[in-house]
Amino acid sequence: MQTARETQSVWRIAAREDVPALLEIERASFATPWTLGEIEEELDKPLARVWVAEVGARVAAFGIQWFVVGEAQLANIAVHPDFRGHGLGKQMMNRLLSEAQSEGMEKMTLEVRTGNTAAIELYRLLGFVETSRRPHFYEDQDEAILMEKKIDPLRSEGRFCCEGIERIEFSCAPCVF
Ligand SMILES: CC(C)(COP(=O)(O)OP(=O)(O)OC[C@H]1O[C@@H](n2cnc3c(N)ncnc32)[C@H](O)[C@@H]1OP(=O)(O)O)[C@@H](O)C(=O)NCCC(=O)NCCS
Repeated sequence: MQTARETQSVWRIAAREDVPALLEIERASFATPWTLGEIEEELDKPLARVWVAEVGARVAAFGIQWFVVGEAQLANIAVHPDFRGHGLGKQMMNRLLSEAQSEGMEKMTLEVRTGNTAAIELYRLLGFVETSRRPHFYEDQDEAILMEKKIDPLRSEGRFCCEGIERIEFSCAPCVF
């Protein structure tokens, strides 16, 4: 059920036409944002799934996850500053978790800067727990917290599982505070 505080939104998989809007959100959210080319690459990656949330005619948020050997990895998530604090981040994470479950993933993992209180609180609210820390993880030597949430898979084998990939490094870009 939607509460009065939540923004009415439409959810869909991102298309190439969304890239400029994603870039705008990215630039408004991170100190070292992904480039246009990096965002475009995500749309083409077989392992990646890029979701957008539209509010009215605007793309207000996006979320990117990768499906790797039974693990959904949160590659990026951001809500446009104009739309923060109205439940979109939580809705996006729930959508990604639900999709990961449908794809048979056993857990979702992510990395977040130790100072990114908003994101850490969001992840904790949804049941993510800290598993470890990586000092000097980011370009500016900031520390990353690694978090994960177990998922009860709906089916045993995900379409996006791929054998032979040991680890793909990913991270949310440094955030603007
Ligand atoms: C993190 C982010 C996605 C949250 O999106 P949002 O739509 O504003 O969050 P929501 O309104 O869904 O809030 C859900 C919960 O997150 C937590 N939260 C959100 N903003 C918060 C803040 N500024 N301070 C503390 N907790 C916060 C709260 O627990 C909140 O629940 P509550 O409203 O019941 O207290 C958004 O702040 C953002 O885009 N930040 C910049 C990009 C970024 O840091 N991405 C994560 C990289 S790892």
